[in-house]
Parts: sequence; structure tokens; C-alpha cells
Amino acid sequence: MIDFLEREPFRRARDLGRTNPMHTTLPRRFYADPDFYRSELERFYFNRWICAGRADQLPNSGDYFTRSLADESIIVTRDSAGAIHALFNVCRHRGTRLCEQAEGRFVERIQCPYHAWTYDLSGRLLAAPHMAAGFCKDEYPLHRAGCDVWDGHVFVLLRPANPAHPPLPAHPPLPALRDQLGDLPERFAAYRMADLRLGRRIVYEVKANWKLIVLNYNECLHCPTLHPALNKLHHYLGADNVTPTACYCGGAMGFRDGVETMSMDGKRRREYLPGLSESQRQQVAYYSIYPNFLLSLHPDYIMTHTLWPRAHDRTEIVCEWHFHPDQMAKPDFHIDDAIEFWDLTNRQDWWIAEQSQAGINSRVYQPGPYSEREELLWSFDEIVRREAERLA
Ligand code: FES
Ligand SMILES: [Fe+2]
Repeated sequence: MIDFLEREPFRRARDLGRTNPMHTTLPRRFYADPDFYRSELERFYFNRWICAGRADQLPNSGDYFTRSLADESIIVTRDSAGAIHALFNVCRHRGTRLCEQAEGRFVERIQCPYHAWTYDLSGRLLAAPHMAAGFCKDEYPLHRAGCDVWDGHVFVLLRPANPAHPPLPAHPPLPALRDQLGDLPERFAAYRMADLRLGRRIVYEVKANWKLIVLNYNECLHCPTLHPALNKLHHYLGADNVTPTACYCGGAMGFRDGVETMSMDGKRRREYLPGLSESQRQQVAYYSIYPNFLLSLHPDYIMTHTLWPRAHDRTEIVCEWHFHPDQMAKPDFHIDDAIEFWDLTNRQDWWIAEQSQAGINSRVYQPGPYSEREELLWSFDEIVRREAERLA
């Protein structure tokens, strides 16, 4: 399965299309079949690194947040040495969920609410009351998932990463996050994302398949009809896209004359992020990093979306805006212009994604033809389709 993460860039859909000029959208089952959804979740969300949140959500030892996906729940926490861990939220005694809060702080230990088995912040079992003499606590640590950080973004891989007792079914070794991300760390190094801090978070419930959110994010052909405010800031045909890869697709969009960032009036009320090139100051980079991370890099802030599928036709979306702390410390620091703009745009996008889902649910839906300008969408569909075929 890991060979899917090969580094060979996908050829442009346009090139691939020479023998097949008409590319079409995916069949109905890719969006409307609960069984297909569950198998796709295994392929994409339990077999790849997914973005879980930000390291600055865990400033102190014991701080944690939890994330859930299908039947799994994961605790992401920081230990006293500063390391971040992702621990399956499953007690090693009788399996009880350890922690049901979305976020909080452990006081040095994680204690099961059932019979008080107690673990340290890296998942090591410290205390197991009433167990017989000779019971070996070292053999019962919490199951650890893969956990790594890219420039302030915490990624997890929801597969057991530590030896278990008794052993779990054999898994191939975890791939490295770095191998999945490819050239993204170098590509976006100038933004110094680890330095940024959360300004606002809004969580949306969207009645649409997660892939419809990705597809919609990857094109601006809908901008003139759906986003009148956004259309005043970008030209909808102005995207300069990079060659899609197995990991991501995206590109940059420049501003219309007089526009300096994405805000209600196009004005920029914060300094440029330090270290940006002149061209980076004049564009927004929009990247879909599969499967669940949408990264929008502005000249003066970044916006992130993480997608959390809840059903074949339902997705929770966590949208966050991150700013430079020097700007946040200013008495006149202002973010409402950016939040209001993107909240409006988000809601327009979620609405149309829900309308897409509703139409695709119909018995008369058939795959429809893509235009040449929708090549990023087709490149993503191809990844989805090939995985489904290969692992069928
Ligand atoms: S189930 Fe956790 S201590 Fe018993
Ligand atoms: Fe949109």
C-alpha cells in the first residue's frame, strides 16, 4: 500500500488525455455508498498521514486534544520533555476510552476512569491496581499512533506504531511523514508556519462527502457565480498551478489591482509575514494536501482546513486562521476582515458542496464531463479511482 506514496509526479491530466480527451467525474458510489465510504476511509485516512492540528495547541506538558475518525479516537499530547505523542484512546486493561473531552490538560498522568490504570504522557503504563505480582507493566503501554510535526502542523498516522502485547496483526513499517509531503517543506519554508499562532477557529458541519470539499477547493471556475466578494480580489482564471503529485495539488493566485490580501475589502491590516519573497507577497497559495488538509497561504496570515469525514455524505471541517505573534501583540491587531471574508466564502462553498451531494445521490446521476480547466480535479479523481481499483 505504501508504494502509492511514490514520488513520481502525476503527469498533467491534459497530457494523459491525448488518447482519451473526455475525462469524467466519478461514479455515484464514490459519494453515495456507505460501504464504499468505509473502505475508502481505510485507504485514505488510515493509511496516510493526516493533519490533526497545531503544535501551538499544546504549549505545556500535559496539554492535549483528541481527534476521532470512524471508530477510532486519538489523544494528542505533549510530554514533560516537549515531545508530542499520538495515543490511541483505549485503556490496556479492559479497553475503556480514557478521555472524552475535546481538549484539556492532564496533570502529569493519564488515568483511566474505570479502574485507575495510569499512564505517563508518552503512554507508558505506570500503575495497574490489583494485578498479580509479576505482572509486567512494560508490556501494556497505550498503543501509539504515528505522530510527527511539519512546521507547526501535527500529523498523525492512525496505525499502531509500538510493539504490543500480545502482538497486533502485522503491519508494514510506518512510512515517514517527510516521504509523504515530498517537496512541500521546502516549497513553503519562507512562511515559517511554526512561528504562527491561532487567531480564530470555526468548525463547520457539512452534509457532503469529503471529496466534494477537496474538489471544490481545487477550482475557481465557480467563483464568479458563487463568490462575488472573492471574485473582486482574484481573477477566477488566474491560478498558476503546479504539476499535481500523489500527495497534493494546488497553485498560486495573484490579486487584482489594488488588492493586498483576502479580506472583505482587499486591504491588508497586518504586516507581511516575515521572510516572504516579493512574489509571495502578491499571491495566495492554495494547496490540497491529501487526504484532509487544505492549506491557504496569504501574504499576512495562513488559513487551514482539516477535513474529518463522519459519513459518506457528511464531513466536519475545522477551519483556522493563524497569524504572526508580533502582529497579534499590537494593540490595533485586527482579524475580523479576514475571518468575515473567509467565513462567508466557506459557507458559500459548503452550501454548493451540499447541493452537489444532493444531486449525486439521485438515481439519474451519471459521471459528467470535465473541462480542460478542471485538470486538478481529474488528477485527484484518478488517485481515488486507482486506489479503489487496486485494492478492490
Ligand atoms: S478499563 Fe481502564 S482501568 Fe479498567
Ligand atoms: Fe469556492
